Amino acid sequence: MENVKIIGAGYAIPDQKVSNEKLSQVVDTSDEWIRSRTGIVSRYISRQENTSDLALRAAKEAIQSAGIDSRMIRLILVATLTPDNYTPTVACQVQAGLGLNDQPIMAFDINAACSGFLFALECAASLLKEGVALVIGAETLSKILDWNDRNTCVLFGDGAGACLIQRVQDGSSMTFYARSQGDVDHALYCPDRGLQPDLVNQAQQKTYLSMKGRDVFRFAIQAMPDAIQQVLAGQSLDSVDLMIPHQANIRILEHVSKKMGFGMEKMFVNLDTFGNTSAASVPIALAQAWEQGKIQEGMHVILVGFGAGFTWAACRIQHGKGEDTQ
Ligand code: ACO
Repeated sequence: MENVKIIGAGYAIPDQKVSNEKLSQVVDTSDEWIRSRTGIVSRYISRQENTSDLALRAAKEAIQSAGIDSRMIRLILVATLTPDNYTPTVACQVQAGLGLNDQPIMAFDINAACSGFLFALECAASLLKEGVALVIGAETLSKILDWNDRNTCVLFGDGAGACLIQRVQDGSSMTFYARSQGDVDHALYCPDRGLQPDLVNQAQQKTYLSMKGRDVFRFAIQAMPDAIQQVLAGQSLDSVDLMIPHQANIRILEHVSKKMGFGMEKMFVNLDTFGNTSAASVPIALAQAWEQGKIQEGMHVILVGFGAGFTWAACRIQHGKGEDTQ
């Protein structure tokens, strides 16, 4: 458990909204199929902004919402599986974009696919000694989607979410759980460009994200309850005011809600608008909940996610002093 608290949050999405109808002009699918199987109605696909651009915009929103001097930032962690480059990292690009290159900041990226933001939040909470940590989840998944593969391209979108955390002594805390389990069957897979054993400049092969949907579904509906139970550590789910899950598929969320006896009305859902934005999904939802005033002092919130790797994780947030700690 870490005595840290969220002090601001923000998000950024690209300007191009793509509806299911629009997608059905590109690939053999329909609004009815996507809506009924996933709950997704639209997603945002970037035309010009790369991952670092979206990350920077989300970071600026978070800083503005916290009302802090950005020079208080000591740590920048970006969760992404679609960075602009192999190097430099998106985190370093964000540091430069914020004009903080002269500050004593540690900045690096983390890839744990859709669980990445939760992995990054745990790392930030445990690394943070003074000042503020900026934690971002940002993706331009559209770069690695095969727009001829209806099994995948209808599910994902681009975007970024960010939050700022600070060490506090007001009864706030975050309790974390994170797990990994190597996916030997390529249930969620995007290979790189390959080795160059002959030291010759081979033509670059384009590679895309592939997925065995049913395997991922089965994994998700056992991974999410596991992560939630772990952070609850014996406490009742009744004490939870809000659940902010990874936004992959409404049927997965409904399944988890039913299995755990946790009402859908307490589950934050925005996948209808944004689709699955991988590492950006939890922080975008968090920032929207923050903006809508759904995270108040004394509240008890759970963030939970799962993703490729496989990875799964959760964070139980006590935001300010809770009833049991007063
Ligand atoms: N439009 C129309 N038909 C489609 C589409 C599409 N976009 N995609 C697949 N189909 C077809 C299939 O070809 C199949 O046809 P067939 O029976 O003739 O072969 C049929 O629909 C049924 O396919 P299923 O795979 O059985 O569909 P299912 O009900 O399992 O739903 C889905 C598929 C939505 C992908 C589901 O398995 C799922 O949600 N899985 C989890 C996905 C997920 O969460 N991914 C992200 C997780 S991790 C991360 O975020 C990186």
